[in-house]
Amino acid sequence: MCGIIGYAGKKQAAPLLLDGLKMLEYRGYDSSGIAVFDGGEIKMSKAKGRLENLDVLTDGGKKLGGVIGIGHTRWATHGEPSDINSHPHVSETGRFAVVHNGIIENYLDIREFLTAKGFTFKSQTDTEVVVQLLEYYHKGDIFETIRKTLNKLKGSYALGILAVFEPNKFFAVRKDSPLVIGLGKRENFVASDIPAVLKHTRSFILPDDKDIAVVDGNGVLLYNSNHELVERKRFEVDWDVESAKKNGYPHFMLKEIHEQPKAVEQTIAACIKGGEIAFENVDYSEEYVKKLDKLYIVACGSSYHAGMIGKYFIERNCRIPAEIDLASEFRYRRPILDENTLTVVISQSGETADTIAAMREAKEHSSRVLAIVNVVGSTIAREADDVIITRAGPEMAVATTKGYTTQVLTLQLLGLYLAGKLGRTGGEYAKYLEEIKCLPSAMQEVIDGKEQLQILASKYFGNDKAFFIGRGNDYALALEGALKLKEISYIHAESYAAGELKHGTISLIEQGSLVIACLTGDELYDKTLSNAEEVKTRGALVIALVKRGHTAIEGQAKHVVELPALSDEIMPCVAAVSLQLLAYYIAAARGCDIDKPRNLAKSVTVE
Ligand code: G6P
Repeated sequence: MCGIIGYAGKKQAAPLLLDGLKMLEYRGYDSSGIAVFDGGEIKMSKAKGRLENLDVLTDGGKKLGGVIGIGHTRWATHGEPSDINSHPHVSETGRFAVVHNGIIENYLDIREFLTAKGFTFKSQTDTEVVVQLLEYYHKGDIFETIRKTLNKLKGSYALGILAVFEPNKFFAVRKDSPLVIGLGKRENFVASDIPAVLKHTRSFILPDDKDIAVVDGNGVLLYNSNHELVERKRFEVDWDVESAKKNGYPHFMLKEIHEQPKAVEQTIAACIKGGEIAFENVDYSEEYVKKLDKLYIVACGSSYHAGMIGKYFIERNCRIPAEIDLASEFRYRRPILDENTLTVVISQSGETADTIAAMREAKEHSSRVLAIVNVVGSTIAREADDVIITRAGPEMAVATTKGYTTQVLTLQLLGLYLAGKLGRTGGEYAKYLEEIKCLPSAMQEVIDGKEQLQILASKYFGNDKAFFIGRGNDYALALEGALKLKEISYIHAESYAAGELKHGTISLIEQGSLVIACLTGDELYDKTLSNAEEVKTRGALVIALVKRGHTAIEGQAKHVVELPALSDEIMPCVAAVSLQLLAYYIAAARGCDIDKPRNLAKSVTVE
């Protein structure tokens, strides 16, 4: 996962690098480091633990001079978090320094190869082989050195490279790992993600795989693998600088929960034009949609949970069979794909390794791939046949909130779009379209009622386990609610299809067990009500989520959270907000590090 950054300009590099790393900390936070050219030499500082440690060590970067440098924040894969394993890594003679995001799969072979040539290694990382290869291949021409090194590497990488004999510039290169180049005024940047440099520029270039970027204060030159100077498309982002800051909120997660009405409104504005659903980059013919015999929806984590809601919605409204799959399973299970299958991949970051692999698998077998992605220019956004960009804006907290709800909404809009192509615009179609427009205000209502969730959190934050149950969309919601709670509060939270509970899990229910029952749909309300009764009879304390006015639950539930009433199909975005707030306040009451939960990273670029 890890975050890398590079700067070349007229200002002191180290404070700028530290500042950028703060915006990349969500990618990994077990150690960090920076290297700069200072007086023609490479000077370096690294520290185990949070970025604050590096900040203190370098006095906010002031201790390191120089106007060119690279930085890194780490999520350990090879080698425990330690000063030695943290990046940058330097070559044996100290002539090269490298920061790396990704995984060098053949690092053991390279290590053996270089050891036989007399090289010694200090760290346990895969990255150190990259910097030693640079040293090994260097015979004078830096491009040849980098090329030969890249040719030897298998795996994925985004690299920032300093070389002592090129002290006025740095080099950057990527393969299957994210890297953007930011173009400023007499200063230029590279970074793993846009928010790291958004303060300085909104103008970006995306290098192609294996392009070598030469970055100095005056400009950026890109060379392709044939060493030809190439131009890559420049693009401007419309993300607001403020959206990547906490703006007075104690955590990014809380801020992002509050941003959901706006994010949803922006997504609606981008996809509904003149009462019709129209996507900027998707234009399917009726003939194509009518021929579709199957949809695969593929994703990881919360995006997978969003996909489940998408599956139910699309099947109900389009009557096309839709399968939902975890990307890590899909890619290895030889799915049956052809030109009549549409594969929908969902990813907030657009960089999740398993989802990228699943997308490539689908493309290879003639399936068209439609991506629902939040990050413009990400690998998935670039490689998919068609792309719908969710309008969540930058999401900094590891636990996704606005990323998730905009995905759910986009899938619903996609369902209506496909239904329109199939001529299935009767039934609930018009009602859904109207209700979707009410989502921002309904979600705002839940946010305004947050006090109730805060009170519930103060009662139950000491519990060590929680169960989430529901049916249909409410089951998908339960999965997401449990994930939110466990990832940020470390409470053992499990979710079950309410009807499955009696096939084993109910044996875990005892006096005082906390059960969050999601009953936000009318259709299956009575069924889940019975399941709530079953757990209550066995001593569980039930918190029930229902549409406003559904009071039948009062006999079973200790607490009832009433939500604005929309159609069953449109409830998930509204209900998700209350589950996010509940998880947030419980984690806050437990004193957890909410934006950076232990062992997690936002963008999972490893298998
Ligand atoms: C990580 C994040 C989750 C996210 C998942 C998939 O585990 O912590 O919040 O749902 O990756 O990420 P993606 O960017 O593909 O949606």
